[in-house]
Parts: sequence; structure tokens; C-alpha cells
Amino acid sequence: MPRVVFEGQAEPVEADASAGDALVDLCDERRAIVAFSCRSASCGTCRIDILEGAGLLEPPLDQELELLEIFGDDPGRRRLACQARLAAGEGRLRVRPSQD
Ligand code: FES
Repeated sequence: MPRVVFEGQAEPVEADASAGDALVDLCDERRAIVAFSCRSASCGTCRIDILEGAGLLEPPLDQELELLEIFGDDPGRRRLACQARLAAGEGRLRVRPSQD
């Protein structure tokens, strides 16, 4: 079971996750600091940096890839929290809101 750590606030927020869980739901449930607007891969507000454990996320689908490309982001290091889902596996996924 992956453990997700949301950094970028005074105290990191942590959550156990299962394969298929959406990061957006974990953010809402745990009140993580990640900001959202469209929630549909259109605005880029929810871009997050992957600090550790990128392999614990399912690969991005076309809509997410297209927006990341517009921002010039490497999908191995940056994702959209409104689109990313957990993959099966063990380990720790550490993320924080992107600064640029
Ligand atoms: S909230 Fe707009 S792209 Fe994720």
C-alpha cells in the first residue's frame, strides 16, 4: 500500500492509499495544501512536483500529458494532482505544490 506524503506546509500531510485512488480525493480528504481550480486538466493550478516515488503513480493519460507539455513539464517529475492516480505497489510518494 503506497503512503502519500504531501509537503509544502508546516507539517506534511500523510495518507495511506490503494491502487486506483485519485490524488485529488486524498488531497480533499486530508486537506492537503494543493490548490485546485478546474479539476479537469485544463488550468494547471494543481501541478505538483514529484519528490519521491514517481513509479507509484499510474502513467499520465493524454489529456494530462497535453497540459504538462504546454507548461514544459517533465511528466516524470511533475504531474497534475487532479488527474493522477495511485498505481499498485509499495513505497512512499512525496509531492508538493509546484512553485512555477
Ligand atoms: S485543477 Fe486545473 S489542471 Fe488540475
